[in-house]
Formats: sequence, C-alpha cells, structure tokens
Amino acid sequence: MDRIRLVGGNRLRGELPISGAKNATLPLMIASLLTDQRLTLSNVPRLADVVQLQRILVNHGVGVSLEGRRRGETGMGGQRISFHAADIVDTTAPYELVSKMRASFWVIGPLLAREGVARVSLPGGCAIGTRPVDFYLKGLEALGAEISIDAGYVQALAPGGRLRGGLVRFPKVSVGATHVVMMAATLAQGQTRIENAAREPEVGDLARCLVAMGAKITGIDTDILTIEGVDRLGGATHEVLPDRIETGTYAIATAMTGGDVLLRGARRDLLATALDVLALTGTTITEEPGGVRVARNGNAIHPVDVETEAFPGFPTDLQAQYMALMTRSSGTANIRETIFENRFMHVAELARFGADIRVEGQNASVTGVSELIGAEVMATDLRASVSLVIAGLAARGETIVNRIYHLDRGFDRLEAKLAGCGAEIERLTG
Ligand code: EPZ
Repeated sequence: MDRIRLVGGNRLRGELPISGAKNATLPLMIASLLTDQRLTLSNVPRLADVVQLQRILVNHGVGVSLEGRRRGETGMGGQRISFHAADIVDTTAPYELVSKMRASFWVIGPLLAREGVARVSLPGGCAIGTRPVDFYLKGLEALGAEISIDAGYVQALAPGGRLRGGLVRFPKVSVGATHVVMMAATLAQGQTRIENAAREPEVGDLARCLVAMGAKITGIDTDILTIEGVDRLGGATHEVLPDRIETGTYAIATAMTGGDVLLRGARRDLLATALDVLALTGTTITEEPGGVRVARNGNAIHPVDVETEAFPGFPTDLQAQYMALMTRSSGTANIRETIFENRFMHVAELARFGADIRVEGQNASVTGVSELIGAEVMATDLRASVSLVIAGLAARGETIVNRIYHLDRGFDRLEAKLAGCGAEIERLTG
C-alpha cells in the first residue's frame, strides 16, 4: 500500500495550481444522467473518486470519454471528459459500487426523474458519522415519488413515470440532498421550490451547468431555489469551479510552514470566512490577478476559535487542517464541529506529533506546542489525512503517512504540488 514520506522544516514557496473541485465534479458527472445528449466537463481533477464515479455511471449506460489528452501528459491542468447517457441501461445502483463512495447515492435523483424508477443501495455510515438519507427521501416524496426500503436498497417510483413539482423545506442544510432534489426537479412536471437549500458554491456550480443544459432555475446561490420543470434537457460544456477546500488546505499548509505561495486559479470569494480566520491567525492573504497569495513571515500563529458551519461559514472540510495549524499556535484555540458528529479522528493522530488537544463532545481545545515531532501516522478519511501531511510539513524529522488512498480520493497530485513549492515529500509505493 502506498505511503507518503515527508521531512518537515521547509517553508513552502512559489506557485501551486488549484484543481477543479472534487465536490462539484461528482454531482456534475451525475447530472449527465439527466439527458441523452453529451455533457462535457473541463477542469476535472485527477482523483480516485472521479474514476470510481465513472465506473458507476458506465454501469448505468453512460459513455465516458477523455478528450484531448496527449500521451505522457504531465501538466497540472485539469482533464476534459465527456459523458453521454444516450440510453440508461440499468436503473439499479448496486451496493458494491455505492458503498465505495457515498456521493454515488445521488444518482437516485436523475435516474428517477428521467426513467421514473430507481433502485439505489443505501450508502451506510462512514468514518465521519452516520450520515442518514432521510432529507433526500422526504424531498423526493415531496416531488411525488413513492419510496420504499427493501433489503438495504431504496426503491423509488414516479407514478405515471414522471415526478411533479412540489415544496421541499430541508430541516437542516444538506449539500447532497439539495443536489439531488434540484436535479430531480429539473425534469418534473411543474414548479418546485426548495427552501433552506445549501448555498455551497458547488451547488451553484451544478445549478449553472443544469441551466446550460436547459433547466429553468432561479435563486442560484441563495437558500431558496425555484425550479420550473422542463420536458427534456440537452447537452452542455461546463468548466468545473476551483476547489475551495484544496485552496484552504494549501493556504493552511503555507501558513503552517511560514511560507509564501501563490495559489494559482484560487478564488477568495469561495472561502472568504476561512481565509478571514487565517488572516486573524497572522497570515497575509492577498488577491492577485492569477489567484490568491498566502504568506506568513516568522511571526507567531495566533490562536483563533472557529465553529464549522454550512456555507458561507467555516467549512467542516477544513476543520482537521485548521486544527493542525492550531497545534503550533501561541495559545489555546477552541474548535467546534457542528456538521458531523464524529469528525475528530485526526486528534489521536495529531497527538502522535506531540500536539496538545482535548476533546469534549463536539469541541476540541487545542493548545499550541513549541515543536511538533515527525511520526508514523494514518487517518480514516480524506481531510483528516491531509491534516497529518500539514503537521508533518512543520514537524522536526521524518513523517510517514499511511493509508494514503484517502488522499488520492480528493487531492490531485498532492505530493507533486507540495514538492513544487519546496516541500521534502515523496510517495513510497508498494
Ligand atoms: C457534502 O457531503 C460533501 N461531500 C462533504 O465533503 C462535506 O463535508 C459536506 O457536504 C458538508 O459540507 C460531497 O460534496 C461529495 P450534507 P453531504 O448532506 O452532502 C445531515 C469531503 O471530505 N443529513 O450537507 O453528504 C448529515 O448527517 C466530504 O469532501 C441528514 O441528517 O453532507 C450532516 O450532519 C466529506 N440527513 C449534515 O446533514 C440527510 O438526509 C450535512 O450533511 C442528509 C444529511
């Protein structure tokens, strides 16, 4: 199994390209199921999750083709991939595929809207919490779907073969449930109103792509979406927006090492709250024509409390990375996780570097230490894994991060990007 070896101490300097967003790419790929025309996505990141979702889509009958890749291409640019669901050959998403990646459950929305029927395995829990799907099912029921659960599968049926518009009010903000109900509503008969919709930029990106495909959606980027159903959607070409979590991760890594890096292609507006917090810790954040520059000179890292929230708040997907930064602050910072109930698995691993963290329920109290010491570590989810890389970059001596398949799920060529900015980092294969 591959591992990452790194030796801490180098300041990150230079330029680091930001890839397309994983969490926008996945729902955009799934949207290809809504039309028999071709959907072409550009700026697609090279990630294991993208490959896995391709397998799932192929199983439903989607033709996937990688466009314009030259032999031996090594550039950092994104991929251009087209998805063509001329015919849906299977409306079942089996356990073996859905259990590998939770977002694959989202195919339920387009399959039901286009084919009038879908049978999708329940995704089950995952390392960060139980993650139920009740909002999805209630939302689809509000659009007229008849839903039953049988042998671990959700069986969904649109009476008469077509969903109808309805009113959906989510009790809590859910990114995935918003994606699914919005996609389903594009082909429903009549108008759908989604209240308390997620405002995450990836939801807006999907909505814009759906509009390019012919959907009628208003209220994009707000918490009320109105969708006027249409009879059919067409093809489109869409560029995936930059990854705000990757941006935040490398911004934190730069702050951690006291470096100076231009995050090329990054957009500040996609993570204003997190970058504002970073500025309060003593990091300079500047917008430049090519992206966002992050710099911290030798000054102390100030402790700043954060609480994770739905967008535009501080993202849960940056909580672990931020905690790694706070292990080196000049005081004590309180970090409160409000989105997922079990998202502190990195704490025990950060402790292996000598970090001083106390957890009580959803709160972690992090007291900075004068030095972290490299260690052998592993993590059970993507963002937790990268928090260990961040700690390792600032630690004395060697760090080995095990189980890096988590990193490969969501970080496009992480070690090459960090090495390009001066980090001593390599992948150990086998
Ligand atoms: C998306 O997950 C992201 N995944 C997650 O990123 C991210 O952490 C999360 O949104 C929050 O921002 C993708 O986009 C692929 P939710 P999602 O539904 O949609 C509860 C990463 O590392 N809930 O917004 O699954 C749920 O348990 C990943 O890239 C219900 O109770 O998250 C949670 O407490 C990890 N019932 C809260 O809502 C439901 O039916 C928000 O979850 C649905 C959700």
